[in-house]
Amino acid sequence: MKKVLITGVTGQDGSLMADYLLKNTHNIIVGGIRRLSVKNHKNIQHLEHNPRFKLIDLDITDHQNTNEVILREKPDYFINFAANSFVGNSWSMPVSHMETNAMAVLYQLNAISKHHPKCRYYNAGSSEEFGDIYYTPQDEKHPLRPRSPYGASKASARHLVKVYRDSYNLYAVQGWLFNHEGTRRGEEFVTRKISKGVAMIVKDIEKGNKITPISLGNLDAKRDWSDAEDFTEGVWLMLNNKLGPKDYVLSSGSTYSIRQFVEAAFSAANIPCYWTGSGLKEKLIISNDISEELSLSAQELVNINQEFYRPAEVDLLQGDSRMAENDLHWKRKTSFRELVEKMYKNDYKLLK
Ligand code: GDD
Repeated sequence: MKKVLITGVTGQDGSLMADYLLKNTHNIIVGGIRRLSVKNHKNIQHLEHNPRFKLIDLDITDHQNTNEVILREKPDYFINFAANSFVGNSWSMPVSHMETNAMAVLYQLNAISKHHPKCRYYNAGSSEEFGDIYYTPQDEKHPLRPRSPYGASKASARHLVKVYRDSYNLYAVQGWLFNHEGTRRGEEFVTRKISKGVAMIVKDIEKGNKITPISLGNLDAKRDWSDAEDFTEGVWLMLNNKLGPKDYVLSSGSTYSIRQFVEAAFSAANIPCYWTGSGLKEKLIISNDISEELSLSAQELVNINQEFYRPAEVDLLQGDSRMAENDLHWKRKTSFRELVEKMYKNDYKLLK
C-alpha cells in the first residue's frame, strides 16, 4: 500500500485521480487543500468517509508549509494538479500564475530533493506550452513557444522539473496534457460554458421562456479535446513507467474549432440551427420552422462578445500521443461526440 499525495484534489483532475486510484489500486490518498472561507468540495464529497482518503492543509505557494508536508507525510507519489488553470485570466494575474504554476513547483521539487528523494513526482503540464505552433500535430519534440502568462508559467515549471530530475536523479515528470473536459469541468472553460448554456436554452424552450443566448469569444480557435477521465490513467502510467521518468503528450490526435463544439452541443440537444453574419456580428440562430412551430419570441442561440477574446491566442492545438501509446500502452476511450453528448446530458440533468 503506497501513499499518494494529490494537490488540487477538489478540482476536475485531482478528484478524478483520487477516484481512479481508490478504484484501481490499494493506495492511500492524501488530498492537499488550501483552506478557503467558502468550502468547494462537491467533486470529493463522495470520498469524505472513505478510510483510504484524507484531507490535509497545504498551500502550495507557501514554501515552509510545502516542506513540512513532505517531511511529515513522506508520500510515495506527489501529484501536483493544483494550479491557476484559466488561461484567459493569466494576463490580468500574471504574477499569481507564476507563483502558483512555477514557483510552487520549485518549492515542491526542492522539498522532495532535500527531504524525500524517493518520492515520484508529477506536475501537470499543458499543450499551452507549445503556444505559437511550429508544426502539427505537436509531439514531445515541439519547441516551447507560449502565448500567454499561463503558458509561460507551465513552460518554466517544465524546465525546473527537468533540471531537478537531471541534477538530483529524481523520478520527476511533467506530461503535456492537451484540453481535457468532462462533467466536473469548471464553468468558465469554453466547453462547460457551452454545454451548460445549451442545457439552459433547452430548459427555456421547454418552459416557454425567452431564450438566453450564449456569449462567446473566438470561435475559430481549434483545440484537441479529450475526456479528462482518460487522462488520469495516462498520468498514473507516466508515474510508473518501466523506461524511467519521461515526459509524454496526452491528446486525442483530432482537432475541432469552438464553432464545431457549439454545433455538436446543439446537435446533442436536437436543436437545428444555422450561422449568420461574420466577425463580431456572427450569430447562431434556431431554424425557422422550429421557431415558428414553438412560437419563440427570440431566435438567437449564440452571439459574440469581444470581452471573451484574449490578447494573444493559441490558434491550433492537435497532439501526437504515439509515444505514450507505444511506451505506456495508453489509449483514450471517449470520442469527441461522446464527450460533448455526455457533458450536455449531465448539465441538462443538473438543471432538473
Ligand atoms: N473560456 C472561454 N470562454 N474560452 C473561449 C470563449 C469563452 O467565452 N470563447 C472562445 N473561447 C476560446 C478561447 O479563446 C480558447 O481559444 C478556447 O476557447 C479554449 O478556451 P478554454 O476552454 O478557456 O481552455 P484553454 O484551451 O485556454 O486552456 C485549457 O486547456 C489547456 C490545455 O491546452 C485549460 O484547461 C488549461 O488549464 C490547459 O492547460
